[in-house]
Amino acid sequence: MKINENYRSLETSYLFSQVAAKRAAYEKAHPDQRILSLGIGDVTRPLPEPVTRAFTEAAAGQGDPARFHGYGPEQGYPFLREAIQSYYRRFGVDIPLSDLFVSDGAKCDLGNLLDLFDADNTVLIPDPVYPVYRDTNQMAGRRISYLSAVPENDFLPMPDPEQKADIIYLCSPNNPTGNVYRKEQLSEWVDYANRQGAVILFDAAYEAFVTDPSLPHSIYEIEGARTCAIEVCSLSKTAGFTGTRCGYTVVPGELIRDGLSLRSMWLRRQTTKFNGVSYPVQKAAAAAFSEEGLAACRKILSVYQSNARLMHRVLKEAGVWHTGGVHSPYLWMKCPQGQSSWEFFDRLLEQAQVIGTPGCGFGAGGEGFFRLTAFGTPEDTAEAMERIRRML
Ligand code: MLT
Repeated sequence: MKINENYRSLETSYLFSQVAAKRAAYEKAHPDQRILSLGIGDVTRPLPEPVTRAFTEAAAGQGDPARFHGYGPEQGYPFLREAIQSYYRRFGVDIPLSDLFVSDGAKCDLGNLLDLFDADNTVLIPDPVYPVYRDTNQMAGRRISYLSAVPENDFLPMPDPEQKADIIYLCSPNNPTGNVYRKEQLSEWVDYANRQGAVILFDAAYEAFVTDPSLPHSIYEIEGARTCAIEVCSLSKTAGFTGTRCGYTVVPGELIRDGLSLRSMWLRRQTTKFNGVSYPVQKAAAAAFSEEGLAACRKILSVYQSNARLMHRVLKEAGVWHTGGVHSPYLWMKCPQGQSSWEFFDRLLEQAQVIGTPGCGFGAGGEGFFRLTAFGTPEDTAEAMERIRRML
């Protein structure tokens, strides 16, 4: 028996597990202190009422012989795929139902999509970025080239026409920096990918935070994207589904490589290894896309947006360089006094009992930076920021 040796190249634990372990150790040593978390991007508002109504009705139906559902359709129920299709039409994007696949979340799909690609491919990954892109490719032993995301390019790296790429990750609004690609920038990426025959894996998990109508929510707002891009999205941040689990992936029928349709490959992969999302969760997700559901979700998002504004104000008054927090729930700050990411993490925990996420966990380029999330409750966020203000 041979194990997957690629695991030896990984950090011993996943970024957010590392943070959780540090928090647990501190809590154990200081049981009297109240820790506030601006760390992992987990939502704190409950599911909106139209969603829980649909969810509970469908769950109750599972106990009723007349309303019971067993296995559902392979790509997800048509009622949910049609709801997602209508949602995309709001940004002027028409997605055929056959391109839409319902899943239990973006993170799983981002990892699982790699089943479609050989290990002998060059992967372009922005640095810093959501660590799942890097870790899942390291597990498969793929060559990784990093795209430097720095203040000079607004943390939004652009393609180098001379650089070879097979698989490209883009995340916009970006996790962790919070910045958003403009349409003309995405257009350059799409042209580059089409020229190279590369595939873009576009992570749109934070699209609901985009408020400027000129900024894109989806890569399919860009001409040419259907021949080079797969888009992954989820209801986690949009509708509070982090603990409920539902996402969706778009694999366009036009995406053909080496004579094979990636959509057919993905269908084959999903039907072999995945049995779908539960009926009540799909009903809940469809309710989130109804007019009533979308209005309720927007209300919740406005709570997080208001947190982000407060966080921005406090950091600005404290003279801390930062970005993000406008079309994104994340603020990306420079660690004060030249501290490293983990040094600042420890200082914040010890002096203010506040948890954040060390920038270096998102890649070497994140060293010296720190991420704060606006997903807390307004009360905890206000208190955490007051503690940070006093500490700084
Ligand atoms: C984050 O904090 O970056 C995300 O919430 C983690 C995730 O979505 O998996």
